Amino acid sequence: MIVVTAITELTSHRKALPSPVGLVPTMGYLHEGHLSLVRQAREECASVAVSIFVNPTQFGPSEDLAAYPRDLPRDLALLEETGADLVWTPTPEIMYPPGYQTWVDVEEITQPLEGAMRPGHFRGVTTVVAKLFNAVQPDRAYFGQKDAQQAAVIRQMVRDLNFPLEVVICPIVREPDDLAMSSRNVYLNPQQRAAAGVIYRSLCAAKEAFLAGERDAAKLKRIIEAVLASEPLARTQYVSCADPTTLVELESVEDKALLSMAVYFGKTRLIDNMILGE
Ligand code: PAJ
Repeated sequence: MIVVTAITELTSHRKALPSPVGLVPTMGYLHEGHLSLVRQAREECASVAVSIFVNPTQFGPSEDLAAYPRDLPRDLALLEETGADLVWTPTPEIMYPPGYQTWVDVEEITQPLEGAMRPGHFRGVTTVVAKLFNAVQPDRAYFGQKDAQQAAVIRQMVRDLNFPLEVVICPIVREPDDLAMSSRNVYLNPQQRAAAGVIYRSLCAAKEAFLAGERDAAKLKRIIEAVLASEPLARTQYVSCADPTTLVELESVEDKALLSMAVYFGKTRLIDNMILGE
């Protein structure tokens, strides 16, 4: 496994990689969710590149960029074990040198949900992902369904800007109690960690109602809110039932729907989602 930092090094090693090349963009502090993307890329591509970059431009002023967990030696050991071929660990100075002034802005589907709660977040995500795509030039890029809106936004960007690559979305990997794996789970104290299981239970309650014939989006959202409200440590920020492609809020579920939510446990903000009608 080759580890590079400078773009010139990346470019020369990239040329030697057999095609197709799969890219897995990450912010490091890797867990089984990230590694599942690397494994899927490993199965589907001749070469696997992984980027590790805690992207400052996708963090809001009130979000603690400095406190984002990092452990590069551990990440590299995990990637070696999982079979990555090339790891790119650029620095903020490489990605955003002095005088940097170009941004990628996907307009509509970045407005609701996470976009509404985290202004500027997706502009940072799409800009850095576009830069990663340009530098690595992958044939396929792997993202997790865990960040459902991010996945939809990146699909839109790839379509709109004609990036010559295929976006692959991989299923959510969960802990044994079904909490979605996330780098942010380490911030939970033991009581909050135990309480966080309520998130998946709330999604399952809505799914059960859907399978029993409920199609009213407001009612499905109320079911989720009620389950979340039963957990005193959970503070719900939003619950949504939206079209999975456009992310426009639904009145009734005709075909498919994306149920999603953000819930605070103390200061830790967790997101999760489930697609109905698959
Ligand atoms: P990060 O949060 O490190 O996540 C990297 C990738 O792993 C994302 O595509 C995310 O959806 C996926 N992922 C995280 N937890 C997962 C889980 N439990 N199951 C499945 N996939 C999971 O998302 C980012 O980084 C950044 O925004 C990035 C795209 C790298 C741009 O900076």
